[in-house]
Amino acid sequence: MNRLHAYRDAGRPLAAPAEDVSTLLAAALQPGAQLSRVTSALEAILALTERGLAGDAPAYAQYQSLLLTLHLPGEARTEATRRWMASQVYSVEDRFAPALPDYSPVSVALFRERVDAEIAARSRVRHPMSLHLFEGTPPREDVRFFLQHHWIRSYNFYSLLAELAFRFEAIEDASVFYRNLYGEAGAEDPSRSHPALLSHLMTYFDIPLRIDFAGLHPLEKAYLNNRIRCVRHPDVAWGLALLYAVESVSCVNHRRIYELLQRMDVPAGPSEFHRLHGTQDEIDTEEMWALIARFAPDESFQRQFMQSLARHFAINHAYFDMLWQQMPGQSSRQA
Ligand SMILES: [Fe+2]
Repeated sequence: MNRLHAYRDAGRPLAAPAEDVSTLLAAALQPGAQLSRVTSALEAILALTERGLAGDAPAYAQYQSLLLTLHLPGEARTEATRRWMASQVYSVEDRFAPALPDYSPVSVALFRERVDAEIAARSRVRHPMSLHLFEGTPPREDVRFFLQHHWIRSYNFYSLLAELAFRFEAIEDASVFYRNLYGEAGAEDPSRSHPALLSHLMTYFDIPLRIDFAGLHPLEKAYLNNRIRCVRHPDVAWGLALLYAVESVSCVNHRRIYELLQRMDVPAGPSEFHRLHGTQDEIDTEEMWALIARFAPDESFQRQFMQSLARHFAINHAYFDMLWQQMPGQSSRQA
């Protein structure tokens, strides 16, 4: 990082023109690319990231796009390069992240109360999109739109579990996620893997399984990027907070979607993913909390956990507001 800043301070251009950065990155990700190509691309991406986080919307869109390119599976020989470049972007994001105001560490029991209260306060239950979908009579095109983005968020949830599992040295800690992964993978029956079950619903609604990542809205890219960033963070508080926030509301959220599918007479097969996730007990959440509780006496863990929650919810809200604005039936409702 410092060396890269020094490059710029030594009179190098502050940033390559935005349209050139993708080309620079493509050159850097050629197998066997020279280090100078990698550092040139990284400098340009970090400059974009800084401009984007300082309020430059086109720069923000492009940095999220490039970060997603670094995050998505790619050429195996550039895996280490992509991970290292992404880690440098995270450092810039951390510099721009607002400090947590006046956080005072508490006992583990009080910490859970604080975390659960924060998650409850940030619930999307009263969001207008939730009211429209789950308490109204949404047109099929709106439900299809919502489910398409559900697929974009959820199809590779298992990879988040796998990434976070790697962060723990002790197998008894990591095993919380390996047990969860066993269920995600369909236990002894791959046809019951959760992505397979969810894909049946996509097929029923005629939603393509292939995702056009480049065409996603910047806020959706930011949402996906933050999930990956959190589970890769060397401080496990980031990933634990992200997954706890997702898992602890999973059952309620999926049950509401299942009930919507039932009202729409969606058959049992395509509805199975949501029936399963809307009825399973909370054992995963309790197991995860038991793991969190082992780290929670540490003050910096608590602080980072709350920072991770704050960032997740800030991105989450902006993302869901965007989905609500772009929902197909929205224009006719405003007319
Ligand atoms: Fe699942």
